[in-house]
Amino acid sequence: MNLVRLIREDIRCVFERDPAATSKAMVLLCYPGLHAVWSHRIHHWLWSRKLKLLARVLSQITRFWTGIEIHPEAQIGRRLFIDHGIGVVIGQTSIIGNDVTLYQGVTLGGTGKGSGKRHPTLRDGVFVGNNANILGDITIGEHSRVGAGSVVLRDVPPDSTVVGVPAHIVYQGGKRVLITDPREINDPLSDVIVALCDEVKRLKARVERLDGELQQSRLVEPESALAVEEEERERYRSQQYPRSDYVSMGEGI
Ligand SMILES: CC(C)(COP(=O)(O)OP(=O)(O)OC[C@H]1O[C@@H](n2cnc3c(N)ncnc32)[C@H](O)[C@@H]1OP(=O)(O)O)[C@@H](O)C(=O)NCCC(=O)NCCS
Repeated sequence: MNLVRLIREDIRCVFERDPAATSKAMVLLCYPGLHAVWSHRIHHWLWSRKLKLLARVLSQITRFWTGIEIHPEAQIGRRLFIDHGIGVVIGQTSIIGNDVTLYQGVTLGGTGKGSGKRHPTLRDGVFVGNNANILGDITIGEHSRVGAGSVVLRDVPPDSTVVGVPAHIVYQGGKRVLITDPREINDPLSDVIVALCDEVKRLKARVERLDGELQQSRLVEPESALAVEEEERERYRSQQYPRSDYVSMGEGI
């Protein structure tokens, strides 16, 4: 595709996605995300021509200038918009589709465990909020959204919104997804939460059983239980405060 047309559509996408963009001159001069994407196209071309060292050196210069680090081998589609940009890292084997939006601080990184394809794939129309980390060879489906500050470690289906650490789905296909089982969050603490829930359930059942037994045996009438308790409290007060100048909480105030 013609280079001028590519640049034009990149500028147009800034106007479409950032209400703060008010003139072409401003977009050309003040959007480091655009500068980084345009530089990356050159670096990627050099990398594919086996000029790897030159490509990397130039990408480091771009990083110094824009605050955005894109590995020259990363594959980037059309109309990528990186807003603000500072701190964005796009790893070597990342693949980014068309019309993707990234905010500052986003990392498309490896988990440190794999080799080969070890960075994420973002399909068309994906939106990633600021400081989100998407780690490993996972896929974020078409038009999905990743919440600011999330850490995504698993594939995300298309048309979904994920948030949290680790990220879990809150919307899918426009419908709210409610977590009913803590295991669905896939948090390292999920097992503890599940164990706590089980314990609460067990204790609740026990209290209900004991309550039933108590009512059945009619050892203590519910109303008279209060009277007995008040009597005990009165006895305690008269022992502790033989004089009658105390004010009882709830009575005198
Ligand atoms: C993820 C996001 C796109 C979701 O927006 P949305 O579809 O309007 O979703 P909602 O606001 O209805 O949130 C749905 C639930 O997710 C929670 N949530 C939303 N964003 C979250 C986030 N980043 N982290 C943790 N939880 C989040 C909300 O509290 C809400 O939970 P609740 O219903 O239990 O209270 C948005 O919250 C977001 O993070 N945008 C990024 C913005 C950004 O990066 N701006 C940078 C500007 S410089």
